[in-house]
This record gives sequence, C-alpha cells and structure tokens, in this order.
Amino acid sequence: MSFCRQDRGRSRDLVRELHADWVARNCFFMGAFDKETRQFVAQIYVGVVNWDLPEFAIGYFADKDHEGQGFVTEAVQAALRFIFEHLRAHRVRLETNETNTRSRRVAERCGFVQEEQLRESHRNPDGTLSGDVLYGL
Ligand SMILES: CC(C)(COP(=O)(O)OP(=O)(O)OC[C@H]1O[C@@H](n2cnc3c(N)ncnc32)[C@H](O)[C@@H]1OP(=O)(O)O)[C@@H](O)C(=O)NCCC(=O)NCCS
Repeated sequence: MSFCRQDRGRSRDLVRELHADWVARNCFFMGAFDKETRQFVAQIYVGVVNWDLPEFAIGYFADKDHEGQGFVTEAVQAALRFIFEHLRAHRVRLETNETNTRSRRVAERCGFVQEEQLRESHRNPDGTLSGDVLYGL
C-alpha cells in the first residue's frame, strides 16, 4: 500500500492523539500485527466506562485482508489480559449489533456472556431496524 505525504501526516497526528489519550488514561487503542509478516491485522479499542468499579468497554475491527484467520480473537484475548491485569478491571462490556454474527462469535470465543438484548435500537443504513446485544465478562 502506498501513502501520500498528506496521509502520512494525518496518520502521524492520529497516532499522537491516541498516544496522548493512552497517557491521560482516557481510552486505549491497540494495533495488532502479524508476528511473521509484521502487517497490520486488527485494531482494538478499550474505553473507560467507570474507573470506580472499574469497568471498561471493548471494540474491535479486522483489517479487511486479514479477516477470518483468528487474528481478532487472539488480539482481544491479549487486550483482555491487559485490561484485567494492568487496568485491574472488575468488568468488561462489549456491545454489538445482533445481526453482526462475526462479532458475536469473537465475543463468545473470548468468554463474554450475553446480558441484555435491546430490540430495534439501531437504524441500519438501508432504513431497516435491528437490535443490539450487550455482553459482559
Ligand atoms: C467483527 C470482526 C472484527 C470479526 O473478525 P474475524 O476476522 O471474523 O475474527 P477473527 O480474526 O477472530 O477470526 C475468526 C474466524 O477465523 C477462523 N480462523 C481461521 N484460521 C484460524 C486460526 N488459525 N485460529 C483461529 N481462528 C481461525 C475462525 O474459525 C473464525 O471463523 P468463524 O467466525 O467463521 O468461526 C470483523 O468482521 C470486522 O472488523 N467487522 C467490522 C467491525 C465490527 O463489526 N466490529 C465489531 C464491533 S464491537
């Protein structure tokens, strides 16, 4: 993939912002990379729900060319170790659209338990409605 100078500048600014958020403990973005090729494979987001409990929210994206190979599951498991061991979490929540079967499979493989189902809480780009599922660990 080739980047123009403007893209590089924007990427650098974004990484600086994410780093500042990490240092301030506002939220934690992590990149996952293939150990062999060193290519970017997935991104994990960890948000703060409540420092008193403490509770965090997790979200994830697979790089399109690396979907369906287990990278996200492995990255989420590593992120969960960071959340429970380093951030001392008591709870982690994960919200996903009920129709997002790939995401739900990642959640369930990582040990999340479904706690709530919100009906018709989401309007899809095509105008149809679908629900969201809340998982907890
Ligand atoms: C949701 C999303 C992250 C799931 O990505 P994914 O690539 O399916 O997840 P993984 O990398 O863990 O891959 C798991 C799949 O790889 C397969 N796999 C292949 N080789 C594997 C290996 N060596 N080890 C483990 N799993 C392997 C698994 O069987 C599984 O397939 P299945 O779901 O059909 O059973 C991805 O579809 C995505 O980015 N969607 C858009 C963003 C989104 O919806 N995010 C969720 C919001 S929280």
